[in-house]
Amino acid sequence: MAPTHPRPPASILLLGAAMLSMAGLATAINSSGFKGGVTVYWGRNKDEGSLAEACDTGRYTIVIISFLDIFGHGEYHLDISGHDTSTLGPDIKHCQSVALVYLSIGGFGNRYSLPTNQSALDLADHLWYTYMAGHKAGVHRPFGDDVEIDGIDFFIEHGSPDNYDVLANRLWSFNKGFRARTPAQLSATPRCRYPDRLLGKAIATGVIGRINVRFYDDSYCAAHWRQEWDKWAATYPTQDYQLYVALPASEKVVGYVHLKSLHLGMLPVLQKAESFAGFTIWDRYSDRLTNYSSPIVQWT
Ligand SMILES: *[C@@H]1O[C@H](CO)[C@@H](O)[C@H](O)[C@H]1NC(C)=O
Ligand SMILES: *[C@@H]1O[C@H](CO)[C@@H](O)[C@H](O)[C@H]1NC(C)=O
Ligand SMILES: *[C@@H]1O[C@H](CO)[C@@H](O)[C@H](O)[C@H]1NC(C)=O
Repeated sequence: MAPTHPRPPASILLLGAAMLSMAGLATAINSSGFKGGVTVYWGRNKDEGSLAEACDTGRYTIVIISFLDIFGHGEYHLDISGHDTSTLGPDIKHCQSVALVYLSIGGFGNRYSLPTNQSALDLADHLWYTYMAGHKAGVHRPFGDDVEIDGIDFFIEHGSPDNYDVLANRLWSFNKGFRARTPAQLSATPRCRYPDRLLGKAIATGVIGRINVRFYDDSYCAAHWRQEWDKWAATYPTQDYQLYVALPASEKVVGYVHLKSLHLGMLPVLQKAESFAGFTIWDRYSDRLTNYSSPIVQWT
């Protein structure tokens, strides 16, 4: 059932790997391409420290700024929990010497949806010109004119599944014309049940190369991780896609896996899949308190 797609995301990942290699990020890659690593969500708690501090730990290969929490109805809003947006630009650039920086759309609020094709196209344009490599006179860029994030993450918890596929295809189309790099990379963070009700259609476009499968905040997913993981791994068996296992760094969150169980119980199962690329940690605030991801860096 693996979707066929004319432009395998592997090609993006190899390009990404080449870029990272130039930046000296030896741990993230090997001869077979981008090896994955640890992704972290940043922006959900003012007390999590700066984005630069997160990157300076050297633990993360992708940091996801979260969330663009309002879109689809002519209004766009970025919620980063009271962090100062004006200082984020230099931090993003600092991070980009060791990691990729994505922006996540959606989250736990209910003020987003894409009611029409046009609203999806408009959101794609908004993201491209406001935060990414698109530049257009008169468009305000909150992170700075010369700061370009690397990708967009789809974190859709509520509403209708409509038009996220249109959004994905439109964002992907911006890569045309860039030979040496892929300025619009895409990831999705669905809940564990395959296929995801809200993101299934978007993922089926084949242009979303990274999938963070969420095994937290959901007691079904915590209990049935093996069964659901097997479905993802069977659907995306090769390195054309990168599957990340999304887990919480805090014991207080449903789905927390003790490091010992993760290492001895879960990891051997995950590593059987060629597409297994690493872990996605929720979130930087918790990880900073617990250092949960510290040993995990060695396991991807
Ligand atoms: C590169 O990584 C892949 C996937 O993790 C692994 O199967 C392969 O053995 C690694 N190759 C080298 C040369 O380390
Ligand atoms: C919406 O987009 C789809 C796919 O691009 C297209 O087939 C359809 O005709 C569009 N609908 C409208 C109303 O523009
Ligand atoms: C986590 O790591 C930081 C930096 O290495 C250290 O200062 C802190 O004490 C550690 N915290 C825990 C709970 O291990």
